[in-house]
Amino acid sequence: HQTAIIVVAAGSGTRLGYGIPKALVPLGGRTLLEHALDRIQLAGCAAQVIAVLPENDEGLADHAAHHPLHPHIVMGGATRTDSVRAGLGALGPDIQRVLIHDAARALTPPETFREVTAALLAGAHAVIPVLPVIDTIKSVTTDPGALQPHVTGTPARQNLRAVQTPQGFDAPILLAAHRAAAHWDQDRAEAVTDDAMLMEMIGERVDTVPGTAQGLKITTAPDLALAESMLSASTP
Ligand code: C5P
Repeated sequence: HQTAIIVVAAGSGTRLGYGIPKALVPLGGRTLLEHALDRIQLAGCAAQVIAVLPENDEGLADHAAHHPLHPHIVMGGATRTDSVRAGLGALGPDIQRVLIHDAARALTPPETFREVTAALLAGAHAVIPVLPVIDTIKSVTTDPGALQPHVTGTPARQNLRAVQTPQGFDAPILLAAHRAAAHWDQDRAEAVTDDAMLMEMIGERVDTVPGTAQGLKITTAPDLALAESMLSASTP
């Protein structure tokens, strides 16, 4: 009854403007992927670690293979869901629980991995780290013909949470959820932005644990600058 962690790092990372795979972008002397793997190693809750890397990886697989965790390396797909599915295909036969983590959340602390794992061990089928939302969030029209969208609604902010990773799941149930979504058309498939959403769609309850500021997704240059300052504040 073991736990695996799948680290998805197969995105292009173009918004960071580095011209290399995002997982290779340096942050305080280590790459984003190394930081994520370091924290997974410190958490000490995974029997198997799988890194999902881009097809044209510019040395990323070699780089990942040198990490002391020696992750199992698989090639990702066109969407995040495809990349997760590729990672799920490499799960060992004894794996009962799986955590899906974005390499872009390079500074997520070991405690979050442990809390998500503990919730699964306590019986949850799905558990995600969340933070309260600071901004008011509105839904808008996405009519491609319109110049500017207009507002269609305002969900109550007290009921909203911003979602981070690692997201933890009962492995057989997550596999079933991914199988159910495998035949969807492209529009529906592209609307799936996390794995918890697939669990919701098959009627599973998704539980939450507290997220952290360090769990931010490093997407743009200002995010990287913020991560640099968090890192220097935590390592004197
Ligand atoms: O696309 P987004 O920014 O939400 O990506 C979140 C995570 O999913 C990143 O770590 C990225 O590398 C990964 N990803 C992937 N395969 C894709 C797209 C994104 O592994 N095709």
